[in-house]
Amino acid sequence: MSLGLAKYIPRLEPSLATYIAVTGACFLPAIVLGIYLLFDIRSRQADPIACRKIGLRIQSQLADQHDKRYSRLGAEQQNGTASWKVKSLWIYPIKSCKGVELNKGTVLGTGMEYDRQFCFAQLSSKFPTSLDTPQAEKAEHKWKFLTQRLISAMATIKTEVWIPDFSSPTYSATHPNVRSGGVLVIRFPKSSNNRSPWGRLVTLLTSMGHTPEHCVQIPFDPTPEQITNSGYTTDSMEIWKDSPKSLTMASTENGDEWIQELRFYLGITNHLALVRVSKDDLREVYRCAPRKEELGYQSKVGFQDAYPLHLLNLASVHDIGRMLSKDAPPLGALNFRPNIVITGGTPYAEDSWKRIKIGEYEYYVACRTVRCLLPNVNPATGIKHGSEPNKTLKTYRCVDEGDPKNACLGMQMVPALEDSKIKVGDTVEILETGEHFYIRQ
Ligand SMILES: *[C@@H]1O[C@H](CO)[C@@H](O)[C@H](O)[C@H]1NC(C)=O
Ligand SMILES: *[C@@H]1O[C@H](CO)[C@@H](O)[C@H](O)[C@H]1NC(C)=O
Repeated sequence: MSLGLAKYIPRLEPSLATYIAVTGACFLPAIVLGIYLLFDIRSRQADPIACRKIGLRIQSQLADQHDKRYSRLGAEQQNGTASWKVKSLWIYPIKSCKGVELNKGTVLGTGMEYDRQFCFAQLSSKFPTSLDTPQAEKAEHKWKFLTQRLISAMATIKTEVWIPDFSSPTYSATHPNVRSGGVLVIRFPKSSNNRSPWGRLVTLLTSMGHTPEHCVQIPFDPTPEQITNSGYTTDSMEIWKDSPKSLTMASTENGDEWIQELRFYLGITNHLALVRVSKDDLREVYRCAPRKEELGYQSKVGFQDAYPLHLLNLASVHDIGRMLSKDAPPLGALNFRPNIVITGGTPYAEDSWKRIKIGEYEYYVACRTVRCLLPNVNPATGIKHGSEPNKTLKTYRCVDEGDPKNACLGMQMVPALEDSKIKVGDTVEILETGEHFYIRQ
């Protein structure tokens, strides 16, 4: 073998330069990949110091959510008694972005701890304006909340919550991450110009399962001193009919680079900002919620749409799912962005619940959840389906006389106490049933 090669090589009379060129050409892709990965790793920030990430470490409780046992014919109902249980718990630290699944959590009067504390907002002008609109009014701009209803790709923005951890070797009570009550981590795919060699490489790597990401760390709940030092400003932001004072923590107006990249990724032309709930300007909840006299405290929310908690019966999702048109992707619980997913009974049993107990704690079931087009967005891909599940929901689920033209699925809840605990596996007891009548905004 080696003898054969030795005979062969001299005939080519290769120079040292040829050897180097051939070897180089063979290894070039590997070298480029190596350099790329080095840069990618360097651009990735290390995990937040002095903190630990909250959420499930094992596979999602929803991994088997499409199993038939969670639908109408479930074994649990065979002897006529439903035994409801909490199957899965979710928080969405940034409104309309990917959620974090928990095994257990704390429920405050405002909903689950860490839920909907942030949202993205765009700077919008009054539109349309006419020629005779006064100049001052034309120039008027306002931050308005953004959701998947408008920008479905928001579904692909990943979020993590890191909270101070006494047992961490890097823990120190004075570390900024500890003083800010933890860190919000945001991840989203790096966009690339597909025609450049660099862009082609990124596309290749993405197809190989390695998606290069931007990774950003934001103080979860900055102290007044951190707010001043970082130059965060308080602005009012429009969310539905409210305009609470909110903390602007990054904005394309201020030239923050990562949010510039995010704006490009989402394809937004207006200015974009990351906004945090201001604890002294929460939005008070009335409409179908129990009043202060009954509840013992005034119900309030951060950036939830309307009520503190959202409960979803997996059997109801199954029932809608089996009626969808054939081309629709399988319907899952996450299309409906629940906090609490329960199983154990028949579809739509929850429609008439007024008060329930989960584990040791009571909750008022304020009203049904009236659905918009958001469930049409595939929570995994951020791609909006042309018709489903909206079409099927509209066919079967216009069930509330308070809003007869719109479909309902899921229930809005208000905790009876301002501090409760909840965990996967908790039993759900129905304390009171009755009529619901949706009160519109
Ligand atoms: C049947 O009902 C009883 C309560 O009457 C309950 O304890 C039991 O778990 C139920 N069986 C099944 C299979 O759900
Ligand atoms: C939702 O479904 C209803 C009933 O099929 C349909 O009339 C309506 O146009 C749909 N909405 C959108 C925006 O597709």
